Amino acid sequence: MKTQKATVKDLLQSGDCNQEVEIRGWVRTKRGNKQVNFIALNDGSTINNIQIVVEMTNFPEEMMKKVTTGAAIYVKGLLVESAGSGQSHEIQAKELVVLGEADPEKYPIQPKKHSLEFLRDVAHLRFRTNIFGAVFRIRHAMAFAIHQYFNDHGFYYLHTPLITASDCEGAGETFRVTTLDPKNPPLDEKGEVDFKQDFFGKATNLTVSGQLEGELGAMALGKIYTFGPTFRAENSNTTRHLSEFWMIEPEMAFYDLEDNMDLAEDFLKYLIRYALEHCMDDLKFLSARLQEEEKNKKAEDRSMELIEKLNFVLTHSFERVSYTEAVEILMNSKQNKNGKFQYPVSGWGVDLQSEHERYLVEKHFKKPVILTGYPKEIKAFYMKQNPDGKTVAAMDVLFPQIGEIIGGSQREENYDKLVNRMKEVGISTESMSYYLDTRRFGSAVHSGFGLGFERLLLFVTGMGNIRDVIPFPRTPKNAEF
Ligand code: 4AD
Ligand code: MG
Repeated sequence: MKTQKATVKDLLQSGDCNQEVEIRGWVRTKRGNKQVNFIALNDGSTINNIQIVVEMTNFPEEMMKKVTTGAAIYVKGLLVESAGSGQSHEIQAKELVVLGEADPEKYPIQPKKHSLEFLRDVAHLRFRTNIFGAVFRIRHAMAFAIHQYFNDHGFYYLHTPLITASDCEGAGETFRVTTLDPKNPPLDEKGEVDFKQDFFGKATNLTVSGQLEGELGAMALGKIYTFGPTFRAENSNTTRHLSEFWMIEPEMAFYDLEDNMDLAEDFLKYLIRYALEHCMDDLKFLSARLQEEEKNKKAEDRSMELIEKLNFVLTHSFERVSYTEAVEILMNSKQNKNGKFQYPVSGWGVDLQSEHERYLVEKHFKKPVILTGYPKEIKAFYMKQNPDGKTVAAMDVLFPQIGEIIGGSQREENYDKLVNRMKEVGISTESMSYYLDTRRFGSAVHSGFGLGFERLLLFVTGMGNIRDVIPFPRTPKNAEF
């Protein structure tokens, strides 16, 4: 039984020429003259097109007119070694069928340079461009590599819920999930919306993180990870924020902060190595595109070539620095003294902005940085409190061009300390009783982190806007498609 139709990738890699093959795909370009036409055909399996050679006398002229950019066609013909430069194989067409036309007057993706902004408006068709083909093949490869890594390292994939009644990060930036009538919701004695009458009998929202449930799993299965969409209703219109993004969250029993940092560094390096080993064609394409853009920049503003940058991260150990040291570096920086930061660093306790993170990584240490020991006030309630009473065992991994790519911590395993902290920040211990049970029964040191999948993809693909590494971006005022 033949289970697979051949793809362009198969044909280009195939050693056996002079055999009859069939292929289906979308026309990228067509050129030629009255005698012979050359069609560049792509089916999404690779960045590379296969060339179809069409002797015009063998095919009706009317049909060949319909072979335009974007049209879907079927070709049967002889696979031969190509005489022309730039490709290894080509197909001499014997049969050609137009499966679906694409009217050149109306089809938006024409063979010319389109801006990424324009392509975002036609995101349903942008998969058909080289650039988005490359990005989404790499996205797939990275998702696969994530599962591979954890499976190879004894982690279990735990599916945490998307609908929850908690707000893990405590930032209050959640999307409400309700079936109540917005025009006429039931009210309680106080005149407030009575969520007891809502679908779940309580107020619920889309999850901002699978961590809390992940911890429950880790405190029995040992090592787990979640990998799913998370939702944040923060009104951040930046190139690094989405309202719906995918997060990878490993959680490990008996791991302290040091173990957590080691895992994060090893994991990121594995993923980057995987991309270099499995996605080179796409990376080369993206790199060439970036080089073209860099030409327009001043020499000192140019960034490292993409593949060189990926190799650079692989071969350098991440700098591990405390928040306190980082704030000193920032305070003493020329940037800060000359008022070049949008948010001046005024002293210990300030939350770091992405401009500060990038300064530390790109200008000061010139490599990825792991910052630890943040003030407890600027971090979530569940983080392990350090003996100094001021800081927590948090770790953020900072990358060039991205800033924060990972946020994580050792968790507070001491029941009393955790309850006190929850009370301090106003989190109901009653509704979180299930979570506190892990600290009541068989509590132990444990740690975990969250990697933003799209932030990883920004780094690996070199794309500049997070909207361009997720198929259908959700951002404030935008839920198209
Ligand atoms: O630092 P965050 O908020 O950490 C957590 O949610 C923890 N519960 C994770 C854990 O310890 N299990 O988010 C983790 C990462 C960030 O470092 C960033 O890469 C990404 O998620 N991220 C976003 N990515 C895109 N759009 C947003 N709005 C993001 N917010 C966070
Ligand atoms: Mg964070």
